[in-house]
Amino acid sequence: MLVALCSAKGAPGVTTSGLALALSWPRPAVLAELDPAGGDVLAGYGRGELSAGGLADLELAARRGGLARHLDSQLLRLDSEGRARLLPGLADPAGARHVDWDRLAAVLATVEDGAVDVIADCGRLRAEHFPAAVVRRAAAVVLATGSTLRAVRAATQAIAELRGGEGRAGLVATLVIGPGEPYGEREIGEALGVQVIGSLPRDAKAASVLSDGAPAGRLFAQSALLRAARTVATRLDEFAAAHETRLAPPPAPVPSAATAIGDSRVR
Ligand SMILES: Nc1ncnc2c1ncn2[C@@H]1O[C@H](COP(=O)(O)OP(=O)(O)O)[C@@H](O)[C@H]1O
Ligand SMILES: [Mg+2]
Repeated sequence: MLVALCSAKGAPGVTTSGLALALSWPRPAVLAELDPAGGDVLAGYGRGELSAGGLADLELAARRGGLARHLDSQLLRLDSEGRARLLPGLADPAGARHVDWDRLAAVLATVEDGAVDVIADCGRLRAEHFPAAVVRRAAAVVLATGSTLRAVRAATQAIAELRGGEGRAGLVATLVIGPGEPYGEREIGEALGVQVIGSLPRDAKAASVLSDGAPAGRLFAQSALLRAARTVATRLDEFAAAHETRLAPPPAPVPSAATAIGDSRVR
């Protein structure tokens, strides 16, 4: 299952939230850094200690026809068990214009035959080379927004744009980062006209572990940010799964026994 995460202008926190969600996901998950402005996790959470070609290498493999086969070798572990993994983003944003987002989306939507969910950090909506094909293919699209008037205004525009695509209206939801500045989930949901998946509190200490690799400390897993991320992850998983089921094509009619046997004889 593929879940796309993006933001409107003036709403920082997408990558940090994506990481928090990948680490809290109820099943194995991959955080795919697809922000055309470039990847941040290797230098941030990874403190520059990890390296991988990530998206750039994968794109080269794709041109040789081996995208799905090479995905696994580009993933890095985000936790000790490897339940959460990372597809590192572009080191050089200039590479974004060469990425075939359509082809990548098709592979990310079916990682390990759907046993692994992918949370795609798509960065800012309307950015040049924004991975729109990934958004179109996703089971759910989550717009991260702040709760200031300025942020909610920008989010309203962004939601209208996201819902513009045919047949996508039910798939868009929002995630509030830092609620209560001054608006809360209910007001934001009403203003945007979409479901609010939940909120992640402002928690600078825990956020800096994720965004800048600050030492995690004993209490990191119990921080307000990570506790909220577990709730949001569960709700988002349910939201996306419900929509994925609705989107799935109806099952093909079951052939009668006679037809099936006849078919195999012909072959
Ligand atoms: N929930 C949060 N609470 C406090 N600070 C946060 C939170 N989420 C993100 N930040 C901070 O905001 C900054 C930008 O975050 P980042 O995730 O890189 O944004 P984006 O991916 O949207 O550019 C970082 O310094 C990060 O620590
Ligand atoms: Mg980012």
